[in-house]
Amino acid sequence: MRLTLIKPDLEHLPSFVRALRRGWSPDNVRGDAAMSEALEAIEHDAAAFVEANDDRDARAGPVTLPDGTTAPRLPGFHRWLWDGRFCGVIGFRWQPGTPALPPHVLGHIGYAVVPWKRGRGYATRALALLLPEARLQNLPYVELTTDPENLPSQKVILANGGRLVARFRKPAAYGGAESLRFRIDL
Ligand SMILES: CC(C)(COP(=O)(O)OP(=O)(O)OC[C@H]1O[C@@H](n2cnc3c(N)ncnc32)[C@H](O)[C@@H]1OP(=O)(O)O)[C@@H](O)C(=O)NCCC(=O)NCCS
Repeated sequence: MRLTLIKPDLEHLPSFVRALRRGWSPDNVRGDAAMSEALEAIEHDAAAFVEANDDRDARAGPVTLPDGTTAPRLPGFHRWLWDGRFCGVIGFRWQPGTPALPPHVLGHIGYAVVPWKRGRGYATRALALLLPEARLQNLPYVELTTDPENLPSQKVILANGGRLVARFRKPAAYGGAESLRFRIDL
């Protein structure tokens, strides 16, 4: 089955839960902590969990950064990568009316593919499928950041028209390491 993006819902939730139980984390940086939080939130209120994946009014409250501090949430939404089963997640967040992002937000778009479905072109296709939705926010461009050693992610961005615009240091809350910022004109 060809890869599509789906809006998270209760029907597809069991496949997402199976990926979490298999050890996959929805947060590249926060790892197991984010995985456990997601499982707890689903157990507590599954409907609220799937609804919070489409949060264009930033109602879900502050976001937790890797050092445990919190910061204001931007409007945003997630889509699940789906090939008949859950295979990953892609998220988009933005500040209405401006392409600028606050320093604690490392890019408009982030994605992760479950380890057992990598190398099939899924992240490349997921980003291609998400860009038309990003265009609906009337932004002139989106920015994405990756670690310098994350070559698969850089290939995903370049394959979707991205260009490197800056090398920068991540904020202290993310550990301060060097990172790359790419831009895709919309
Ligand atoms: C980065 C990530 C999303 C890529 O997902 P994916 O579905 O495997 O990516 P694709 O299959 O679309 O591959 C993209 C490119 O990377 C290459 N690639 C994939 N895995 C690779 C690996 N382990 N080593 C080297 N290259 C790799 C592919 O060959 C492809 O290159 P090509 O276009 O020249 O053929 C996935 O590795 C992942 O989830 N990593 C952890 C989370 C993460 O780093 N997210 C991005 C944060 S910026």
